[in-house]
Amino acid sequence: MLPVAELHLHLEGTIESDLLVTLARRNDIALPTYDPVELTARYDHFADLQSFLDIHYANLTVLRTEQDFYDLASGYLARAAAAGVRRAEMFCDPQTHLGHGVPLAAVFDGFSAAIADAESATGISADLIVCFLRDLGGDAAEELIRAALPFRDRFIGVGLDSTEIGYPPRLFETAYSIAASEGLHRVAHAGEEAGPDYVWEALDVLGVERIDHGNRALEDPVLVQRLVDEQIPLTTCPLSNVYLKVVDDLADHPLPRMLELGLRATVSSDDPAYFGGGVDDNFAALRNDLGMSETDLATLARNSFEAAFVDDTTRAGWISELEG
Ligand code: ADE
Ligand code: ZN
Repeated sequence: MLPVAELHLHLEGTIESDLLVTLARRNDIALPTYDPVELTARYDHFADLQSFLDIHYANLTVLRTEQDFYDLASGYLARAAAAGVRRAEMFCDPQTHLGHGVPLAAVFDGFSAAIADAESATGISADLIVCFLRDLGGDAAEELIRAALPFRDRFIGVGLDSTEIGYPPRLFETAYSIAASEGLHRVAHAGEEAGPDYVWEALDVLGVERIDHGNRALEDPVLVQRLVDEQIPLTTCPLSNVYLKVVDDLADHPLPRMLELGLRATVSSDDPAYFGGGVDDNFAALRNDLGMSETDLATLARNSFEAAFVDDTTRAGWISELEG
């Protein structure tokens, strides 16, 4: 099993059906069924990103208390550590929970406690990236970053997720400039469903350091050259792309091409409870179904450490473990 950094992981997307049922019962929230197998079976046929998001957001009404957020993150971090993840940079969507009347303190306190406990139990290193839900718009994003600043020590960066098409990065310029002035890292989903113009805007207007997904950047050779020249990481999610019909088949996945072009591509699981498993399952699919070589897989793992928001000594330790 390769040691890796998982850089594109939505904590809310790690909610396995067993935990979904436990939390629904704990908080007296109705689910369409209480059979975990039936719940998971609904994830087989997403038509696109939005059809996934609709089910995903409906599930998230079960998350209510600090303990719920603790249990969610603890479960992921234990599975990730067992799957070779040395470093997890984890997205969370506080606006979803605020919309359910859950205070920010419950979200941050639950996640922070889970990170601290997982770090001492397994040695995994983890941090949070707060995402703006693009379909709530730029003003709501600005409101969130201001409300989150009292918790500034709980997260290392900001990201942009949810419905992509129709919500271009430029709408979030103010929220990102506040984040930049606070010294926060900046990333954004772009080029998952929308075209290369969204990737350009994420770079030029939001000043992002990594692009989440970035598949459609390959349609623009000038953009590819920029991403190569600046070694801007792309956090690709191969199994997610298959489940959400971003690619027709894993065999069509652009990852091998990205490596050939010299792009700093990495691999993550996105929403492992919905998309066929964790980062280890993604690596297994690349090896077994896409036929990627061990050398390419090691390059992807190395890229993940190069792209992580950590100090150079920590980074060098993981790279020497990988290459040792
Ligand atoms: N939220 C959770 N997963 C996502 C994805 N793949 N794209 C956009 N928003 C998301
Ligand atoms: Zn994502």
